Amino acid sequence: MHSYIVLASLSFLYLAALVLYRLFFHPLHKFPGPVLAALTNWYEIYYNIVHEGGLLAEIERLHKLYGPVVRIGPNTLHFNDRRAYHDIYTHGTTLVKEPGFYHGFLAHAPESSVVFSDPQQVKNRRGLLAPSFSRQAVMNLEHNIQRKVDQLITILEDHHNSPDSSAGISLAYRSLATDIITDYCFANSTNTLADPNFSHPLAIEGQNLLKRVWIQVYFPFTVHLISTLPKSFISWLFPAFTTIMDVQEKFERQIDSLISNPDILSTTLHDTIYRHLLAPKDPELRPSRTSLIHEAFTLIGAGSDTVEHVCSVGTFFALQDYSIRRQLAEELRDAWPDKGRPLSFTALEKLPYLTAFIKESLRMSIGAIHPMPRIVGQETPEIAGLKIPPGTIVGMSSYFMHMNPEVFDDPFTFKPDRWLVEDTSEMMLDLVPFSKGPRRCLGLNLAWSELYIILGNIFRRLDLSLADENVYVFLLRLLS
Ligand code: HEM
Repeated sequence: MHSYIVLASLSFLYLAALVLYRLFFHPLHKFPGPVLAALTNWYEIYYNIVHEGGLLAEIERLHKLYGPVVRIGPNTLHFNDRRAYHDIYTHGTTLVKEPGFYHGFLAHAPESSVVFSDPQQVKNRRGLLAPSFSRQAVMNLEHNIQRKVDQLITILEDHHNSPDSSAGISLAYRSLATDIITDYCFANSTNTLADPNFSHPLAIEGQNLLKRVWIQVYFPFTVHLISTLPKSFISWLFPAFTTIMDVQEKFERQIDSLISNPDILSTTLHDTIYRHLLAPKDPELRPSRTSLIHEAFTLIGAGSDTVEHVCSVGTFFALQDYSIRRQLAEELRDAWPDKGRPLSFTALEKLPYLTAFIKESLRMSIGAIHPMPRIVGQETPEIAGLKIPPGTIVGMSSYFMHMNPEVFDDPFTFKPDRWLVEDTSEMMLDLVPFSKGPRRCLGLNLAWSELYIILGNIFRRLDLSLADENVYVFLLRLLS
């Protein structure tokens, strides 16, 4: 009994000391913000888990209350100041990714490009992946992207050409983007588009994974724990995990066969990402088997959800506003009279209205909406004119860049025309869907090419209309 009392007293003293330290002596104690957030990370966890990604809405409220810098966690600052965005991300060579967040977000793939924070590891992996994402490499892939887009259009024409057979466009785009990236990885796509109702388990589970992501971010051990259980038990207890396990087994088989016979990838019809990963100039840099499997998860996640989201947002707004749809269709018809033959990516990217439409879709879909956390280093210069203590976690959601009325007039309205004025340099500087700087999106050339080819074909070759608001799951995500 006596030892319990001692233990309880010590715990109480420890907590009291922690409270005093965080409120009055912590290097961030002078920054404004709610007391609860200064005391505990559970503030953030609560909003993201209970309100399903609701931290962003809370951060917006806090900025209105406290100004452009808010302490949103004991050791975390969030900024709402465009200078801060550029200091943290665009010029942020001295800041590294905060490992805790990324190890949770991609708990099933920690040994992969998005997760690495060690500068040497980042340099090595980006160096191995970069040749696959150069403009030239992506242009060589055009025929393949076009082939998959043709497949999607045929499905929509054959199976969804009346109001009673409407399609969930976000799942359709997700299936398409998944097939494009899996084909580019291995020259062997998952053929997610084989299901004309777009309910391939990989597409559905990809979407469900996002709904569970917050549990994973804050409690990554749940993912590790589940992965140690026998497959039959997991399938019984958590049927949703079966797809992920099947995908993992497929990647493992595929990667094992490539490791034992890398020459398979020298004979494919188009180049593949894994050919570069498996045969680096310096053999020391070849990723381990585990890392090759993890990279597959990361590339497929990074290349499918993102492209799907931009296409879904753009399609929704174009279908909602007749004048946008008409201008798109007219420009495409003039530039592309014979819709039976494909129009090249280089021709599509010269079309001003389509380009403006894609930029506006990128702006409104935000990209990675959660602030991407970075750790301030010893050498980090001032952020938005403030000296921030080394070790502090800092971030700024791209939402605050894209919805900044000082740069984007009437920011909550979807207006492609805003991009048709003579000088768009300030808006371009603050359009950050792919992030900026040393950790910007590696796949952005591929993304642009996909966006032009997908949206160009959709609005030239089909006459879509909105059938059911429920289809637009992405809107919920936009607001969450
Ligand atoms: C419209 C589509 C896309 C958007 C909006 C987008 C957005 C982003 C953003 C915001 C980041 C930075 C994340 C961070 O700071 O942690 C990122 C990183 C990355 N993206 Fe994309 N992305 C898109 C398409 C793609 C595609 C098609 C690929 C190809 C597989 C790809 C591969 C990557 C990779 C590998 C990284 C990690 C780079 C690093 O951490 O060094 N992305 N993307």
